[in-house]
Amino acid sequence: MLDKLGWKKSHKVQQQSIQQRMTNLNLEDVPNHIAIIMDGNGRWANKKALPRFVGHREGMQNIRRITRAANSMGVGAITLYAFSTENWKRPSKEVEFLMRLPEEFLTAFIPELMELNIRVEMIGEQEGVPDYTNRAIGKAREETKNNTGMILNFAFNYGGRREIVLAVQQLAQLVQEGTLEPQDIDEDLIAQHLMTSKLPEPDLLIRTSGEIRLSNFLLWQLAYTEFWFTDVHWPEFTAETLLEAVESFQKRNRRYGGLKGE
Ligand code: FPP
Repeated sequence: MLDKLGWKKSHKVQQQSIQQRMTNLNLEDVPNHIAIIMDGNGRWANKKALPRFVGHREGMQNIRRITRAANSMGVGAITLYAFSTENWKRPSKEVEFLMRLPEEFLTAFIPELMELNIRVEMIGEQEGVPDYTNRAIGKAREETKNNTGMILNFAFNYGGRREIVLAVQQLAQLVQEGTLEPQDIDEDLIAQHLMTSKLPEPDLLIRTSGEIRLSNFLLWQLAYTEFWFTDVHWPEFTAETLLEAVESFQKRNRRYGGLKGE
């Protein structure tokens, strides 16, 4: 049995201490936008002598638990790296399996997203993605579009460099048409042409499974984001691990290149 935060009821004692820690969180300083690189589905499955796809399915289920936990902490948006522009290099069977997950996941999760007032968004390119995948994501976006609570943003067929290339192409087009002067291109204008134009920059980046790299994720947007890494594989990343990351975030001193206390 899971409660509304996705914690197992059998872990009652542990759960109470999490609840206690939740109440100790500074609600004024919960990260507004958390970006997550959900790594380690394959290694989690390997560890259990299970096929990789079982790891991906478990990882998918975990999105549900972590969405609930982030929502109950008062997070404004989470962006999940679900499929990168580089993931096409994987064996076709695995790619096909990953392409089927949004359909399975979102169909089952939409009623709960409606209840929680959560809006689904997506960044990444639809081109090259099977119709059934685009349709599933499109349906979830459409059905949740009037929800005003947390944003659940999937990065799907997404690459940070590709995103910047597309933004540069759009701006170059405007210059060519004579509607934009090159000297008027500034950081704000570039940000407005990124796929995340409607989202605040992430306050916290989490990567699971021990790798300490960005893997082409949100390269522009993470310039002043706080990073938090854990060895835990994504399927084992719990509400408590999320809480640990947020607690660490709250101890950071974000200076944005300025001086302490300014
Ligand atoms: C990284 O683990 C994970 C991925 C490339 C895919 C992440 C996808 C999900 C968690 C499910 C997506 C679900 C929806 C609804 C979009 P890995 O396979 O690279 O693990 P490894 O590094 O241990 O091999």
